[in-house]
Amino acid sequence: MTARTLYEVQQHILQLKKETGVCILAHSYQSPEILEIADITGDSYRLSAMAGKTDAARLLLCGVRFMAETAKLLNPQKQIYEANPNAGCPMAEQFSPEEILEKKHALGDCAVVAYVNTSAALKAVSDVCVTSSSAVEIVRNMPQQEILFIPDCNLGAYVQQQCPEKKLHFLKGGCPYHGAVTVAEGQAAKAAHPEALMLVHPECNPAISAMADYVGATSGIMQFAKQSDAKEFIIGTEISIVMHLALECPKKRFYPITSRLICPDMRVTTLMDIERVLEQIAAGSAEELLLPDALMAPARHCLDEMLRLGG
Ligand code: 13P
Ligand code: SF4
Repeated sequence: MTARTLYEVQQHILQLKKETGVCILAHSYQSPEILEIADITGDSYRLSAMAGKTDAARLLLCGVRFMAETAKLLNPQKQIYEANPNAGCPMAEQFSPEEILEKKHALGDCAVVAYVNTSAALKAVSDVCVTSSSAVEIVRNMPQQEILFIPDCNLGAYVQQQCPEKKLHFLKGGCPYHGAVTVAEGQAAKAAHPEALMLVHPECNPAISAMADYVGATSGIMQFAKQSDAKEFIIGTEISIVMHLALECPKKRFYPITSRLICPDMRVTTLMDIERVLEQIAAGSAEELLLPDALMAPARHCLDEMLRLGG
C-alpha cells in the first residue's frame, strides 16, 4: 500500500463526514490537522455549549472522554462517538462519588461544584458544573455560601480569590501537567523573555497564577494574545496552544512556560483514528458512547445548571 499524505486522509474524512452526517467537535488542544477538518472547535465550555445546539444526529468528539460524556448528557437521543477511547483526563476520575458525598456530609451538606473535567458519575453527585471560563461567574451567581469545589484545588483557589464572599472547600485534586509547573520554571521563562506577557491557565499552581499578567481558560488565553498590542507571550497552558497561536499570529512570538506542559491524553488522537471511526460508523459497526440510565438525569441536571448560570 502506498503511503498517503495527511491532506489525502483529510479529504477522505471530509467525504466520510458528508456520507455519515457526522459533526466533528475538537478541543483546541488537538493538532492543527484535526482542527482543520472539525466542524466545531474550542475550549471545554464552547464544546459543551455547541454540542447541545448542533442539528447533527451523530457527534464525534476529539479530545478526552469527559467531553464525549458531556456531549452525550446534553444529547441523550444522539449517537456520540469518541475518536480515540483511550483518551481520558486523569483528573476526571481522581475521586469516587462516595468520597465526595462523605466530604459533603462532613461539611454540613454544602453545595458541590464540579469542574467539567469530571466523570458522569461525579457530575451526578454534584449541584452544578463549571468550566475554567465560567467558574467564577457561576460560583458568584450561586445562592449558597459554602461550596465544595471538586476536583481541581488550583482552579478552586483561583475562584476563591475572585469570590472572597464565598467559602470554598477543596480536595487535593488537579491536573497532573498544569499543576506540575514550578515557580522556578515560571521565573526562568520570565528571565529568558523579559518583554513577554505571561498568560496562564488557572489549573496551574496559585504561585504561578500570581506571577501571571493574565489568568484564564484556553479561549481567554487565545483571545487575550490575539487582541493584545504586546508582541511576546509566555504561555502557561498545554503546549499545543503555543503552536496554534504562532500559526494564527505570525507577527507575534509565543514561548511555552515549560516544554514539559504536555497532556499525553490530548495527544493520542490522530487523523487516522477519526477516519477509522467514520468508516465504522458508515459500516454500522462503530461503538457508541453510552452511559448508565441512572446517571443521565442527575448528571444532566448539573450541566443544565452550568448553562443556565454561566450562559
Ligand atoms: P479549558 O476549559 O480551558 O478548555 O481546559 C480544559 C482542559 O482540560 C485544560 O487542561
Ligand atoms: Fe486533563 Fe490536564 Fe489533560 Fe486537561 S491537560 S485534559 S486537565 S490531564
